[in-house]
Formats: sequence, C-alpha cells, structure tokens
Amino acid sequence: MGELLKIAKEKGGSVIVYQLNDLNIGWCQSCHTCVKSSTVTCAIKDDANKILEDIADADGIIFGTPVYMSSMSGQMKTILDRLRPFTREDNSSKMMPGKKVVWAIAQRNPDSTRYLPVFEKVMFPMKFLGFSECRLLIASGTSDLEELLQQKEIFDKAREIGSWLAE
Ligand SMILES: Cc1cc2nc3c(=O)[nH]c(=O)nc-3n(C[C@H](O)[C@H](O)[C@H](O)COP(=O)(O)O)c2cc1C
Repeated sequence: MGELLKIAKEKGGSVIVYQLNDLNIGWCQSCHTCVKSSTVTCAIKDDANKILEDIADADGIIFGTPVYMSSMSGQMKTILDRLRPFTREDNSSKMMPGKKVVWAIAQRNPDSTRYLPVFEKVMFPMKFLGFSECRLLIASGTSDLEELLQQKEIFDKAREIGSWLAE
C-alpha cells in the first residue's frame, strides 16, 4: 500500500488517504434516496459523503484491506455498500468514465491465490459502480514491511501497478 502511494506521488499525483477505522461511517440502510438522485450523495450524513466526493473527483482509487475471515474487512465492505450513490435506479453509473481502481490486499496466509476467487468477484461491483479498469495486488504471508520489501515480486508489482494508476 505504502509503495503504491509512493509511486503515485512520485509520478506527480496528489494523494488523499482515508483510514476507515478512524471515521464515522454507518451502514447503508437501503433507502434508495441516492439512486433516485442525480448527485453522488448519501442521505446518511456521516464521513462517507466526503469519500464519495473525493472518489468522484479522483482519477484513480486504491482500496486497501486486510483479509478477515477469507474476505475484506467489515470497514471496507461498509464503505463499498455506501458507494451505491454512484449508481442510478436503472443500475447505470453516474461515475465519470476512465477511473482506475486498485485493490491492495494483505493476508496472513502465505498462499497468494487462496482468496483470489473472493477478490476477483469484487471486480463485479467495481464495474457496476463505473470504474473503468481494475487491478489486484496481494501481499501474503506477513504484514512486516521489511519482510514484504524482501519479496521482490510483490514490491515490483506494487511499483508497476502504482505507475499504471498514476499514468
Ligand atoms: C478477524 C481476523 C480475521 C482474519 N482472517 C484471515 C483470513 O481468513 N486469512 C488470512 O490469511 N489472514 C486472516 N487474518 C490476518 C490478517 O489478514 C492480518 O492480520 C492482516 O493482513 C494484517 O496483518 P497484521 O495483523 O500482522 O498487522 C485475519 C485477522 C483478523 C484480525
């Protein structure tokens, strides 16, 4: 994640980082107000609206999550649900075309293919929301930065994906 952000900054991108755990983000209540509206806003007045606004303005997004119980964290799933305002009642997207998205996954299990089917499925809601291109980066086996940096394959992939995102 750090390497992705570093590359994006090196390439001249301006970066905004949100720590979901530090924010007040409630659960989607399926009120459908957002899909009936032409704007990308949620009826729940909490920190999610600022994230919606910044995603609408951004060229690229990185969603970073640890693997919890073979899937994304609860915090990440909650914000994902709250991105519904990017869609309309007919399920078309309000998102400006051309936006890129990266999912950066950290897992304790050393097998990097273990949860691939789960995160490949996440690419469906990405397309549904209107992201144009999606890439996946998986760091497995450790969360220790020094150890991760020794894993040349992950490090190189992070740099490659970071450059792609900042293009
Ligand atoms: C509630 C919980 C569930 C987890 N489930 C998995 C899992 O299914 N597979 C896995 O590889 N790691 C799992 N982990 C490990 C996390 O992915 C790991 O903690 C995360 O990558 C961050 O690493 P750290 O705890 O060493 O900082 C879980 C951790 C927690 C706290």
